Amino acid sequence: MAVLPLNYMGDKVLRKKAKEVKEVDKELETLIGDMIETMYDKQGVGLAANQVGVARRLIVFDNVGLPYGTEPMVLVNPSIIEAEGKCQGEEGCLSIPELVEVVERAERIKVAGLDRQGQPVELEAEGLAARIIQHEIDHLDGVLFVDRVSPLKRNILVSKWNKIRKELVG
Ligand code: NI
Repeated sequence: MAVLPLNYMGDKVLRKKAKEVKEVDKELETLIGDMIETMYDKQGVGLAANQVGVARRLIVFDNVGLPYGTEPMVLVNPSIIEAEGKCQGEEGCLSIPELVEVVERAERIKVAGLDRQGQPVELEAEGLAARIIQHEIDHLDGVLFVDRVSPLKRNILVSKWNKIRKELVG
């Protein structure tokens, strides 16, 4: 396994709509392992494949119901099939380090996809777990959390980010 370099807001791959995974093969299994290692190396709770430069529909996230790092979760071709309620909560993103803002998300969701063996799975999540999954699926559609706040807040975040990005990647 390897820690992969991250893409940051401003990198085009983060704005691409990721493509369906056709086959869960050895290459994908390696990518999954590397993404899990990268997420934990950066102390993140979730990571989408396009954040490491691969525009495929694959996300990994920490099972936040257990102590941090106990159970990495994997969803291939995830889609939200039910969503209920609304809740506000702070979000950050490994692709926009140092910035956080309150974002509204569905409180409870049901998600369908494939597990890391390529078997169909459905899972239900609420609160923080549901928030993380919604954030990561957004990534696969080229959407970042700054797109889900008011235009005023978005402008503030983007101008802060432009300074941070300059220091980070030049
Ligand atoms: Ni993110």
